[in-house]
Amino acid sequence: MQIEKAKRIDQIPPYLFAEIDRKKEEMRRKGMDLIDLGIGDPDLPTPGLIVERLKKAAENPRHHRYPSYEGMIEFRTAVAQWYERRFHVKLDPGAEVLSLIGSKEGIAHIPLAFVNPGDYVLVPSPGYPVYRVSTILAGGVPFFLPLRRENRFLPNLSEIPKEVAEKSKILFINYPNNPTSAVAEKSFFDEVVTFARRYRIIVCHDAAYSEVAFDGYRPHSFLEAEGAKELGIEFHSLSKTFNMTGWRIGFAVGNSEIVAGLGRVKNNVDSGLFQAIQEAGIEALNHFDTPLPDLIQTYERRRDILMKGLQEVGLEVDKPKATFYLWIQIPRGFTSAQFTTLLLEQGGIVAAPGNGFGESGEGYVRMAITINETRLKEAVERLKRINF
Ligand SMILES: Cc1ncc(COP(=O)(O)O)c(C=O)c1O
Repeated sequence: MQIEKAKRIDQIPPYLFAEIDRKKEEMRRKGMDLIDLGIGDPDLPTPGLIVERLKKAAENPRHHRYPSYEGMIEFRTAVAQWYERRFHVKLDPGAEVLSLIGSKEGIAHIPLAFVNPGDYVLVPSPGYPVYRVSTILAGGVPFFLPLRRENRFLPNLSEIPKEVAEKSKILFINYPNNPTSAVAEKSFFDEVVTFARRYRIIVCHDAAYSEVAFDGYRPHSFLEAEGAKELGIEFHSLSKTFNMTGWRIGFAVGNSEIVAGLGRVKNNVDSGLFQAIQEAGIEALNHFDTPLPDLIQTYERRRDILMKGLQEVGLEVDKPKATFYLWIQIPRGFTSAQFTTLLLEQGGIVAAPGNGFGESGEGYVRMAITINETRLKEAVERLKRINF
């Protein structure tokens, strides 16, 4: 029997890292020692206290049954309290907070709640690929907002044609930003509120990296902007904040109707987040001051090593104030894919080609500092030996 895929699956753009994955495998088979700066997955362990709380909670039979899709009220209360301490924003844990099986899950599901076939969704380019894919899976049409260096990698909202804005249902934004590492000030969020109110667009702010920020900088919540809660939802994650990517725990907060819409999708497609993990999440949010100082100092040292090395070989890169990514302009005469291949073949260095994050990522590569200092220094030495 011929197995035919649904059209929506065929519409998902090809996986642009596939070629680099193939090359990586080829180099590995040849015995090359690869330094992987391609993927942003924290290499450091989850703090022991959080692990201990999970161990204890896992033994409690109360947690062995189906959890509620919206999350334990104790977890949602811990989220609301953390939010107030961290951003001075008040949230009703009963109506304005929803637990997620990682923030990716919420981002992937939200268009299903609000986008009708043919509606536009405003998607940053370059951007985290899930915004585009979740739009397509919901039958929506992504309209790409280029993030350019000359505009500090913020979208220029005044460039969006009026007829597109009028047919748009959702605007995705993400600061601190993956892949560009750019940050947004409150004035930008104010501008977003004005724009979204004018065209009645739901704002989905992805704040997965809000607690990975350097040199004393503290990123803002979108909900700090006046009026944001009328039209916005914000996605957070414990993944990067507490080195918990494998645990799958995140949350969405904001406008109660938007939260409820997302909750309704979740109610029908998943069965909530393992309660023992929620207990561990409560421990994390209640016990630690974020950002975690040791973690941030580690990333700062790594960032400085790689920044210095990149500058020494003449590559242009802005010093990140946040995230664990460096967004590097590639030398003239190369495409992102060609430069990524050169790094891999001549240096055994894996980087992510910028065009994998959208057309406007062409001309860049992204490197993640989620490896130790010794390996980063080795990467720098190898960079110095590459001809470009
Ligand atoms: C911008 C951005 N948002 C969301 C996520 C998803 O994180 P998680 O599902 O682990 O919460 C990631 C993960 O890499 C990301 O880079």
